[in-house]
Amino acid sequence: MAPAHVVGWGSYVPERVLTNDDLAQMVDTSDEWIRTRTGISERRIAEDDETTSSMAVQAAWRALKKAGVSPSQLDLIIVATATPDHAFPATACLVQDALGASNAAAFDLSAGCTGFVYALGVAADMVEGKASRPGLVKPGKDGAALVIGAETLSRITDWSDRTTCVLFGDGAGAVVLQADDNYGGLLGTVLGADGSGGDLLILPAGGSGEPPSHRTVAERRHYLKMRGREVFRFAVRAMPDAVKDVLAQSDLCPGDIDLLVPHQANQRILEVAAKALDLAPERVYSNLDRYGNTSAASIPIALCEAADEGLIQRDDLVVCVGFGAGLTWGASAVRWSVPLPAEPPTVWRRGRYAVLQGYARLRSLMRRFVRWLFSRGMKEE
Ligand code: ACO
Repeated sequence: MAPAHVVGWGSYVPERVLTNDDLAQMVDTSDEWIRTRTGISERRIAEDDETTSSMAVQAAWRALKKAGVSPSQLDLIIVATATPDHAFPATACLVQDALGASNAAAFDLSAGCTGFVYALGVAADMVEGKASRPGLVKPGKDGAALVIGAETLSRITDWSDRTTCVLFGDGAGAVVLQADDNYGGLLGTVLGADGSGGDLLILPAGGSGEPPSHRTVAERRHYLKMRGREVFRFAVRAMPDAVKDVLAQSDLCPGDIDLLVPHQANQRILEVAAKALDLAPERVYSNLDRYGNTSAASIPIALCEAADEGLIQRDDLVVCVGFGAGLTWGASAVRWSVPLPAEPPTVWRRGRYAVLQGYARLRSLMRRFVRWLFSRGMKEE
């Protein structure tokens, strides 16, 4: 059974920056309160024409280009998100179409801010397969899985609620996985859930439990609600436990970690978790001052930035750990196997991907056109 390796990574954040001072003009808060209580200075907000799928596609192209994998090689696309473009079709299917990934199965995965770690674990199992049967993803360079965390939290944030609106931002991150007999790769994943805490972090209305109505809109129940203090208490317990559990699977301990890439929710949570694991601050990656909490996108964005900043070297032990709505938690241990710093794409590779992007757009248009022609033909019959 060849393990799954991260062979490419890419992220995307919107251009628009919303600073703490901007927020202080919208609600009763201050830059000082937000920075000292959360560690956040600014966050990115999607433009009106940007969506979870459009940001996911940008991150995906960057990851594919870095990996040198073409969309037609993809067997699987998973998008972890709590803010899909629609309840259905899955955002992953929109990404599949936009990439022209004609051979890929595609689905969304909902596990709050732990979504990316869940998706990584599920994809790794599908890449690795079992001894008795091949995985969904073809082995070696013939196949690949694309795992994306993407969110447009600004669309479910109540911009009049100071207890939540200061925390969240938008963005996307992606990794490409391939099976390979080389040393390293994904060593293991632990995942957990406790639905009894579901009401601590919830989008109450808009689903089948509370369908949209004038009342739900008037009562602002289409916006995220959170009991922050309780989520905080849960997070500082769940994160260190998940890290220890995933390391124990491989007979490793926190002292072996080269870089911890945690869900970026609150700097104080990261500091308490680091202390519980006895990790020096420089071994815990943090970029939440610039992006805030981007939910399922936060770990892949952080992982991409850490790799691009040269903070991860070949053979390093990298642990991703998350917690979030559900309640859910999870951790993945990766023995990084790609030489770093990664080579910048050559002119040839950039050209090849420009052609692939053009082809993907054309393919999507053609398929829509052919479907339209057929539907006209059926009407006339
Ligand atoms: N500006 C100024 N004052 C504020 C603000 C604000 N933006 N927000 C809250 N306050 C006030 C409160 O009203 C309260 O005032 P009071 O004492 O007069 O009642 C006071 O500050 C303290 O409020 P707390 O809620 O106790 O503040 P706390 O220190 O717990 O920080 C925070 C709040 C930042 C939300 C923290 O609890 C936290 O980070 N929790 C974890 C949240 C989290 O990680 N969520 C993501 C989960 S992942 C997912 O799936 C999306």
